[in-house]
Amino acid sequence: MAFQGAPVRCRLLLAVCWVVAAGTAAGAKVLPPPSNLDYSFIQICTLNWTWNPPPNVSSSCNLEYSSDIVINEVPQDNREWSKSLFRVTDAFLDEEMRFKVRSECKHDNTSEPSPWVETSLLPKGIPGTAAVDLSCVWHNLEYMVCTWRPGENVSSDTNYTLFYWFDGLKNPKKCSNYSTDQGIFRCVFNFTFPKVTNTYPTISILIRDDSEEIRPVCASKNPTTLVKPATPSQVTLSKINDKIDVKWSESETFPKGCLLYEVKYHNGDLDTGRIIPSEENSVSIAGIDPNSKYIFKVKAKPKPDCYSSEFYSDWSEEKSIGEKRDFTFSLVLIITIPLLVAVSTIILLVYLKRLKILIFPPIPDPREILKRMFGEQNEDSQSYAKDESVNAYDKLIMEEEIHSLILTETSETPNSEKENR
Ligand SMILES: *[C@@H]1O[C@H](CO)[C@@H](O)[C@H](O)[C@H]1NC(C)=O
Ligand SMILES: *[C@@H]1O[C@H](CO)[C@@H](O)[C@H](O)[C@H]1NC(C)=O
Ligand SMILES: *[C@@H]1O[C@H](CO)[C@@H](O)[C@H](O)[C@H]1NC(C)=O
Ligand SMILES: *[C@@H]1O[C@H](CO)[C@@H](O)[C@H](O)[C@H]1NC(C)=O
Ligand SMILES: *[C@@H]1O[C@H](CO)[C@@H](O)[C@H](O)[C@H]1NC(C)=O
Ligand SMILES: *[C@@H]1O[C@H](CO)[C@@H](O)[C@H](O)[C@H]1NC(C)=O
Ligand SMILES: *[C@@H]1O[C@H](CO)[C@@H](O)[C@H](O)[C@H]1NC(C)=O
Repeated sequence: MAFQGAPVRCRLLLAVCWVVAAGTAAGAKVLPPPSNLDYSFIQICTLNWTWNPPPNVSSSCNLEYSSDIVINEVPQDNREWSKSLFRVTDAFLDEEMRFKVRSECKHDNTSEPSPWVETSLLPKGIPGTAAVDLSCVWHNLEYMVCTWRPGENVSSDTNYTLFYWFDGLKNPKKCSNYSTDQGIFRCVFNFTFPKVTNTYPTISILIRDDSEEIRPVCASKNPTTLVKPATPSQVTLSKINDKIDVKWSESETFPKGCLLYEVKYHNGDLDTGRIIPSEENSVSIAGIDPNSKYIFKVKAKPKPDCYSSEFYSDWSEEKSIGEKRDFTFSLVLIITIPLLVAVSTIILLVYLKRLKILIFPPIPDPREILKRMFGEQNEDSQSYAKDESVNAYDKLIMEEEIHSLILTETSETPNSEKENR
């Protein structure tokens, strides 16, 4: 691995600006500049810029070195003064990086600062091949997920490699769990610390490839800004009278009291949800409608006192409690139940009547019998006579018809037989 072991001394483009101090009026002495400006990588994305002190500086001079960084010709306004002979900075590997330093006698107006000494670090690889939109999320203080897109000039079979390093690791590590999804590259690596830890080292991430065609890119990230808690699990609901208790399991990876929660619930009949913030892993909701269904979900967010991250967890799966009374369904019930009752009563009544006839045959009424024996008989015979007189003609015709039919049938057959013979 190229970044392992001792700092790599790099050949550099030394551009010392021996600016002739033409305009040094009043005869002020111009200081000589520092010499042997150089740099080395001390980690994958960290540079150590070094130089030697200028010669023949009088002991009365309070010598300090002023340095600054220029990225792609843009000064970074990152000026620093120090007495030490080095400065450590982040590396910007995908852009031209220039470092400049000069000597100054502080609080001394008898000498002018030296001219700037500069050196630059030019990007390697083909332009437009560096990974873009690198972003990392620290899931549940357990593992880091970094994603990026390939540069526009990258061939489709390019394999990017991600290295990471943080203070505490001896050597940089290579990420090994890669995947791609719709052109987005992704690598996952473990990133854990003992639970008692409350300060986390800056993490450096370098993406390059094994050949040197791909332009490398570096990023330094403060892990506390990348924290995303796990989705709250084991959400349970319980209803006591007009109160619903919502509980979920506490995080096993976060220190106690470092998570905030949001419980979102909505009554099944209403669209608008309500959000209840909570610092505990439970909430109680009072004054609920007992005839409604309630749907709950929970998400977590890091507490700002612990982590300066704005990432929420995903919402937990929705859980519901209570029965929803469906209005149309109850309307149907209101109509059909009495109808069913009425129909079955009628059926039952009819059935009972039949049963009654079977069990208690109708008792003959003695009055009726007497009536039939005497009064009715007369009446009957009279009416019968009347009827007979009326119907006698009809009866006669009927009889005649039948007879004639029989006659024609009986007389015809022998005749026809005779004729056929
Ligand atoms: C940078 O290099 C100088 C000279 O080699 C060394 O004294 C200094 O400790 C280095 N700085 C770091 C942070 O390693
Ligand atoms: C520095 O001082 C020495 C004598 O102390 C002298 O020989 C040398 O020329 C001086 N160098 C410069 C650059 O002024
Ligand atoms: C330096 O500053 C002092 C006061 O702080 C002043 O008296 C003196 O004239 C200055 N010398 C030069 C060369 O500017
Ligand atoms: C991609 O390559 C072409 C030609 O090689 C170059 O002109 C273009 O600037 C590159 N794209 C980027 C984003 O650098
Ligand atoms: C990328 O990796 C795949 C599978 O490991 C390999 O087939 C392919 O040749 C690699 N591409 C390059 C540019 O090395
Ligand atoms: C690789 O990452 C996936 C998630 O993206 C994870 O499920 C799997 O366990 C990881 N494999 C290893 C070896 O860490
Ligand atoms: C990451 O950690 C999990 C357990 O926390 C372990 O099973 C897995 O092997 C680790 N993966 C790597 C690449 O170290």
